[in-house]
Amino acid sequence: MQARIQQARQLRGEIAVPGDKSISHRALILGAVAEGRTVVHGLSPAADCASTIRSLQALGLEIALPEKNTAVVNGKGLLGLAEPADVLDAGNSGTTTRLLAGLLAGQPFFTVVTGDDSLRSRPMDRIVKPLAQMGATILGRREGRFLPLAIRGGNLKPIRYSLPVASAQVKSCILLAGMYAEGDTVVEELEPTRDHTERMLKAMDVPLKQKGKHITVRGGWAPQAANIVVPGDASSAAFFLVAAATVPNSAVTVTNVGINPTRIGFISTLKEMGAELQMENERLENGEPVADITCRTSSLRGITLEGDIIPSLVDELPIIAVAATQANGAMIVRNAAELRVKESDRIDAIVTELSRLGAKIEATPDGFVVEGPTPLRGAGCQSYRDHRIAMSLAVAGLVAKGDTVVDDAECVDISFPGFFDLLESVRRGV
Ligand code: S3P
Repeated sequence: MQARIQQARQLRGEIAVPGDKSISHRALILGAVAEGRTVVHGLSPAADCASTIRSLQALGLEIALPEKNTAVVNGKGLLGLAEPADVLDAGNSGTTTRLLAGLLAGQPFFTVVTGDDSLRSRPMDRIVKPLAQMGATILGRREGRFLPLAIRGGNLKPIRYSLPVASAQVKSCILLAGMYAEGDTVVEELEPTRDHTERMLKAMDVPLKQKGKHITVRGGWAPQAANIVVPGDASSAAFFLVAAATVPNSAVTVTNVGINPTRIGFISTLKEMGAELQMENERLENGEPVADITCRTSSLRGITLEGDIIPSLVDELPIIAVAATQANGAMIVRNAAELRVKESDRIDAIVTELSRLGAKIEATPDGFVVEGPTPLRGAGCQSYRDHRIAMSLAVAGLVAKGDTVVDDAECVDISFPGFFDLLESVRRGV
């Protein structure tokens, strides 16, 4: 599908975005090995979460979807999963693959996990190494670097592991495997990454301690089923907030957005860039902070982003690049080489496609530099079948003169079904 985006004169409205994808994956996966029935409200409708549901069903789970965005997971306890009859297909979802691999490393049976072309080109040695150290038998294509992975788990021993990359997926994989190891598994993370797994494990009564850079989980304790209310996805809200900041005469409120501090580096960044952005009704739901966020048309300036803040906005860097095209001065992003191993090489993708629209943007090995402001002009662009690239280009299309056409735009369903309709719903004037 091609999406055609016209320049917008004004954006206005109050909207809600779908439930958080990261939290939804964790609710399903922890619910699967919990004692009792977990009800997940506000479940993300993302295709990635559907990959998690399908994989868990193949492992013998009963998961009911009684109404829109609600899942009921009949937990099987730590060792109640069953050997699947076929290969598990994680589709496009790195989170499904890496978190499930942690669980599967604890199971005394054989599983094979694969995924689509993009997922099969993403690095898996980052989970294969620690899981093998814990005692799982785990093999993958090209010396364990890529999917498909074949896993025969069971009898895990605890490890102390210092994360070589800032990755919440790798951290979560080890913590989930740690539930199956006898004793304390310790993960050291040098830069903080999203902590949804830690929060949910604690909320489900699994013994977990956080001290400085160290996270310790005690093995042998099944999570206890819970009622989980998933907040709106901050990463999805980011597209609308940047759209409101960059389109003239605009004001958009996104209600009920998760504002976990490990996720909202983009909010402090947009504020530092000069965005008129307010948070209201801050509250706590299921141990996760939530707020309503409003952004208005703003006069933006470029800043430098590097170091510890990068993991807290890693998924938002493509849309921040779009904001930077409309900001005064240079926006410099460093220490973000992880962008090269996401659903696409997001540095090359965003630099190539924003250049097509007239942006002054250059790639560096671990980031990019944008010189702004530049008037954008509509053009035909590629999404690289990467949901966040497609949505970033659609927002760029709102500020570009003329029409912008994004190819393979259906990939937005990976995290945000309904994105284009919601975007049109805030457009005002012609
Ligand atoms: C995620 C972690 C991040 C992020 C991804 C979701 C998660 O990946 O980019 O979209 O849910 O844990 P990494 O852990 O590879 O940085």
